[in-house]
Amino acid sequence: MSEAKRKVAVLLSGNGTTLENLFQRGESGALPIQVVAVLSSRADAYGLERARRRGVPALVVERKRFVLPEEYSAALFEALAPYAPELVCLAGFMSLLRIPPAYEQRILNVHPALLPAFGGKGYYGMKVHEAVLRHGCKVSGCTVHFVDNEYDHGPIVLQRAVPVLENDTPESLSERVQAAEREAYPEAIRLLAQGQLRVEGRRVRVLTSK
Ligand code: GAR
Repeated sequence: MSEAKRKVAVLLSGNGTTLENLFQRGESGALPIQVVAVLSSRADAYGLERARRRGVPALVVERKRFVLPEEYSAALFEALAPYAPELVCLAGFMSLLRIPPAYEQRILNVHPALLPAFGGKGYYGMKVHEAVLRHGCKVSGCTVHFVDNEYDHGPIVLQRAVPVLENDTPESLSERVQAAEREAYPEAIRLLAQGQLRVEGRRVRVLTSK
């Protein structure tokens, strides 16, 4: 019997390679999800085009039209409501959210560093890898975490480490980290979709599957 697919909304602000990976995993049956809506904080995000190509609703709620995160979040979750997503995945989404109670522990983010290092306001995309190299770190990686009302802060679901190599540039490090993200994010989404995560304070327990 095939697994029931969870309805997922994806939020993004840019290129959307993370979205593309989730589309592929969902379509191949490797991940029990169906992307029901894609929402961008910018009208020019290429990720919107990836959604349109698949016939998936591509919504724009521009961050620049709102002042406060509260106002922005209210508009964003109102736009998502008709699609009734069970889970929300951030995929290069660059705005702060205020999570409505109904969405607590239903929103995940992937960050391109080992949190709590190199996270928080201003740490996104290539800026993270530049900072990791500047600091002289010997390892980096990615973190999948629940989203709360602070940047890159909610309880950590899983992390994957990658080495920082002698001749790395921000671009080469980014490629290695994104390869780790392409495995780690679906793995975490699967655990959430299958009800295998239990949050205890800041710690996320993985329950063994039945
Ligand atoms: C990903 O590497 C993701 O980890 C990062 O943005 C990239 C999005 O790439 N997210 C953050 O930095 C969030 N703080 P994409 O647009 O090609 O999916």
